[in-house]
Amino acid sequence: MPITVHDDLQLFEIRTAGMSYVFGLNEKGILQHLHWGEPVAGRDLAHRLRSWTHSSFDAEVERECEEMSFWGGVGYAEPGLKVRFADGVRDLRMRFDGYLVETEGDLERLVLTMRDEHYGLTVRLHYRVAAGFDLIERWAEAENTGSGDIVLEQILSAAWSISSLPRYRMTHAAGRWAGEYQLRETVLSEGKKTIESRRGFTGPHANPWFAVDEGGADEDAGRIWFGALGWSGNWKIVAEQSSFGIVRVSGGIHDFDSEWRLGPGETFAAPAFVGGFTIGGFGGMSRMLHRYERERILPSKALRKVLYNSWEATAFDVRVEDQIELARKAAKMGVERFVVDDGWFGARDSDRAGLGDWTVNPVKFPHGLGELIDEVKRLGMDFGIWVEPESVNPDSELYRRHPDWVYHFPTRTGSELRNQLLLNISKPEVKQYILDFMTRLLSEHDIAFVKWDMNRTITEPGLGGFPPERQKEIWIRHVQTLYSIWTELRARFPRVEFETCAGGGARIDLGILRFADQAWPSDNTDALDRLRIQEGFSYAYTPGVMMCWVTDSPNGLNGRRAPLSFRFHSAMTGALGIGGNLKEWTDAEIEEAAAHIAAYKQIRPLVQQGLQYRLSSFRDSPLMAVQYVNEARTDSVVFAFLHAQQFAGRLPALRLRGLAADRLYDIGGLPEGPLALHGSTLMHAGIPLSLRGDLDSLLIRIRSREA
Ligand code: DGJ
Repeated sequence: MPITVHDDLQLFEIRTAGMSYVFGLNEKGILQHLHWGEPVAGRDLAHRLRSWTHSSFDAEVERECEEMSFWGGVGYAEPGLKVRFADGVRDLRMRFDGYLVETEGDLERLVLTMRDEHYGLTVRLHYRVAAGFDLIERWAEAENTGSGDIVLEQILSAAWSISSLPRYRMTHAAGRWAGEYQLRETVLSEGKKTIESRRGFTGPHANPWFAVDEGGADEDAGRIWFGALGWSGNWKIVAEQSSFGIVRVSGGIHDFDSEWRLGPGETFAAPAFVGGFTIGGFGGMSRMLHRYERERILPSKALRKVLYNSWEATAFDVRVEDQIELARKAAKMGVERFVVDDGWFGARDSDRAGLGDWTVNPVKFPHGLGELIDEVKRLGMDFGIWVEPESVNPDSELYRRHPDWVYHFPTRTGSELRNQLLLNISKPEVKQYILDFMTRLLSEHDIAFVKWDMNRTITEPGLGGFPPERQKEIWIRHVQTLYSIWTELRARFPRVEFETCAGGGARIDLGILRFADQAWPSDNTDALDRLRIQEGFSYAYTPGVMMCWVTDSPNGLNGRRAPLSFRFHSAMTGALGIGGNLKEWTDAEIEEAAAHIAAYKQIRPLVQQGLQYRLSSFRDSPLMAVQYVNEARTDSVVFAFLHAQQFAGRLPALRLRGLAADRLYDIGGLPEGPLALHGSTLMHAGIPLSLRGDLDSLLIRIRSREA
C-alpha cells in the first residue's frame, strides 16, 4: 500500500512506483516536508525533522516547507490557511490531533487532523493516492467546531515543497483570447511567481497547472515536479523561493476579494490539487496527466464523435433550411454529430439581444427544432446544441423581467462585455431558472450533446440576496453553483454529453473536466496557430478531450490560407470536428474531407486514448511533429507539419518514440511509398521527411507486423 505511517518517528511516507513523498512532525509540532522525488527509504529522513532557527528574523525556517502554512506565529511563507475569528483574532495555533488511513477501492487516503489550541477550528489535510499513478491528490478542509463564525480569508488546497535544486525553472501556460495555452518558462529566484485568474473563471490568460524542473528537462527525460488544480473560478498558484533556497508551490482558490464565512458546525473543503513527479521529462509528465484524466477525472471513457458545428458557417443566422443543407453535406463526409451553435433562440440575431430567452426562435425554426433534429437523425447523426446559461443580454425578456438577477452593485452601472451581463446563479430562483430551461430543452428534444459557453468575465461582483458580510463569497459561490447545476443535469440526463467552452479555452481545468466530456481550447481555428495552442494544451490535458475543427481557408480570424490536408491533419491531432461553411466547399473538397474523416476514425483510439509523444515543436523548429502509440506498442500514428521551408533546406530525420525496438513496423503515408523498419531504427535513426514549401503536412501510420 502506498501510505505508511511511522508512528514511532511521527513520520508519514507516501510511496508509489516512481515517487516518494515524506513529511513528519517536528519537535514543535510543525508538519515539516522532507522529500518529494525519487523513491527513498522514508525512515532515513527522520533525523531531518528539526526546527531550524537562523536568526530572530528567520526563527522557524522549516515553516518555509510546512505541509500547510497556518498563518500565525512566526510563519511568513504564503499562507495555506488564514482566518479571522469572531473576536477579531487572526492567528492560528494548529496542533496535530491524529490521522487516519482509509482505503476506498484502489484509492488510499491519509487524513491528518489539526485543531486550534484555543478556538473551535479543525483542519483536515487530505492526501489521496490512486494505485498505478505517481500522483497525490491533496486538499484541505476546515470545520468550525466552535460557536462563533470563522472567516476564511485564504484557504489553499495544498503546498508542494521542492527542495535542494541548484536551479528552479517553472513552466506554465499563458495566453489570451484566440491565443490560449502558450508555454512559458521562467527561472525562479527569491520571491514569488504567481499565475492566477481574478476574472471569475479559469481564464485564457493562465491555466492552473505548473511544472518545475532543474532547467535541463526535455520531452524525454529529466526530473519534473508538477501539479494541476481542479477549480474553475478565481485561482492562484504561487511559486515562492525563500532566501534559504526552498521552493514551495502553493495553490488553490484565490484569496483576492474573497472570503468564506464558516458558521458553527459548517465545513469548507478546498478543491483538489494533484501533484506528481516523474523522471521522464515533459512527455512523461503529460502522459501521466492524460491517463489520470481519462481514468480518474473525466465523466466517461467514450471516444469523441466527429462533429460538425455551424458557428463559423452561419454565425447568428441560424435558419432551418441552411442548417439542413449543412447537415446533409456533413453526413456525406461521415460526420457523426451535428451541432447548432449560438443564434437558435429568442431574438438572437446578433450578440446584442436574446441571451437568456431560451425558447426556439419561431422565424428561424417555424416548425420548432424537431424539423432539424429529425433530419439530422435521419442522416445518421446525433444532434447537439449550444447554450450560455450564465449570461443575459440586457435586451432580453429575461432581463426585462428580472433586472435584479445579474451581479451588480446597486450604485454602479454594470459593465457590458459582448453586450451581456452575468446572472447571479447563486440566487435560488436563478439557479432554478437554468435547471428548468435546460431540463425542458433536453426532455422535449432528442439532444445528445450540449456545448456550454460563457463569454465574459465577472465584473461588479455584487451578490444580490446575500448580506454585506457575505458579499465576497461570490467568486466561490458562482463555481459551486455551476458545479451543482452540471451535477444535476448530468444526473437527469445521463446520456447527454457536455462540452466546456468559454469564448474558447477559458474554462478548462481538472474541476470542470469532472463534468465535461470534451473541451473547446480556442476560438482560433487557424490550423497553424492551433498547433501551438494544442501543444500547450496537451502539456496538461489529454488530446482525447481537445476539440479541433477544420474550418475555411482563408481563415476568418487571420486570413491565412492553408491546404485542406494541413487543416485536417492539424485537427486530427485531437478530437476532430468540422466547422467550415460546407455550402462553399467543392465536391472535390467534400470528397477529400470524407477520406480524412474515414482515416481519422481508424486512428481515433490512438489519438484520443493512446500515449502521446511530442517529437518536435514550432517553439524551436520549423517542424512540428506529434506521435500517438497504443499501450501494446503495435500501432502508432505520426503527424508532421512544416511551417515554412527555408534555403532549400532538408529536415533532419524524425526520431520516433514509444515503439518496441525489435519489432518490424510497416510504415504508410510517406510520399516515397511504403517502408518496413524496425522499432530501433525508427526510434534511433528516424524517418526522413520530405515536407516542402509552406504548410505541408504528413500523416504517417506505423503498424507492427506481428500483433
Ligand atoms: C464563443 C465560442 O467559443 C464559439 O465557438 C461560439 O460558440 C460563440 N461563442 C458563439 O457565441
